[in-house]
Amino acid sequence: MPVLNSMHMDKSAKDPAKIQTMFSTIAPRYDLLNRVLSLGIDGYWRKFAVSQLPKVGNARFLDVATGTCDVALEIMKRFPPDAKVVGVDFSEGMLELGKEKVRKAGYQNRIDIRFADVTSLPFEDNTFDASIIAFGIRNVQDYRKGISEMGRVVKRGGKVVVLEFTSIQNRFFRAPYRFYITKVLPYIGELISGKKGAYKYLPSSMIEFPGPEEFKKVIQAAGLHDVRYWKLTFGIAAVHVGTK
Ligand SMILES: C[S@@+](CC[C@H](N)C(=O)[O-])C[C@H]1O[C@@H](n2cnc3c(N)ncnc32)[C@H](O)[C@@H]1O
Repeated sequence: MPVLNSMHMDKSAKDPAKIQTMFSTIAPRYDLLNRVLSLGIDGYWRKFAVSQLPKVGNARFLDVATGTCDVALEIMKRFPPDAKVVGVDFSEGMLELGKEKVRKAGYQNRIDIRFADVTSLPFEDNTFDASIIAFGIRNVQDYRKGISEMGRVVKRGGKVVVLEFTSIQNRFFRAPYRFYITKVLPYIGELISGKKGAYKYLPSSMIEFPGPEEFKKVIQAAGLHDVRYWKLTFGIAAVHVGTK
């Protein structure tokens, strides 16, 4: 499979400092590129992930790798006014845009945005009703530690929700999809963002991330139980949910 081999990712590509710089560089065009490259489907994927959060009163959620805050804002739409979110990310560039969106939407009293690394969350054990991460964990070098941190900070009985791209298994859709993500997507990404490289990293990070069954085991190994997952849009993305 030449496409796969040629997309093999150098381990240093996930060096946290490189990831941080890459996201800050593409931040100004990040939302636009998401809509264009996913043909607008990314909104549906986030909605599905948010719908897995527990419906509790006075809910406290942690949106990990919040980026430009699309998940935190989706939570605002779906939960009553007593629900609050803390959003964390380690890219200043992404957080600046996220803060601006939250302010414009008038949610600055319900969404608290902070700088933090997924692998070392600055919260006490058992703080949140759930933690959620959308398209973030793939970029974390030590993703096992990231999942374990997301589990540590949720209360007993709370949920960990992970939305991520996954290796597509549908055999008819697989070849055109691989062509799209390895050939078309980097080209459009570069054209719109004006940045070389960032959208070359995206397909390799998508292809090399564990499949849904394997990732389920990662979540179980972090001490979460009743782990379930749903494949979305022919298995392009998957949502995993585990319970503490
Ligand atoms: C593809 S964006 C996803 C943003 C947002 N969750 C969304 O749904 O659009 C990935 C985000 O993960 C963040 N990220 C990657 N590794 C991280 C880490 N170790 N700690 C905190 N944030 C991280 C990046 O800065 C970036 O904002």
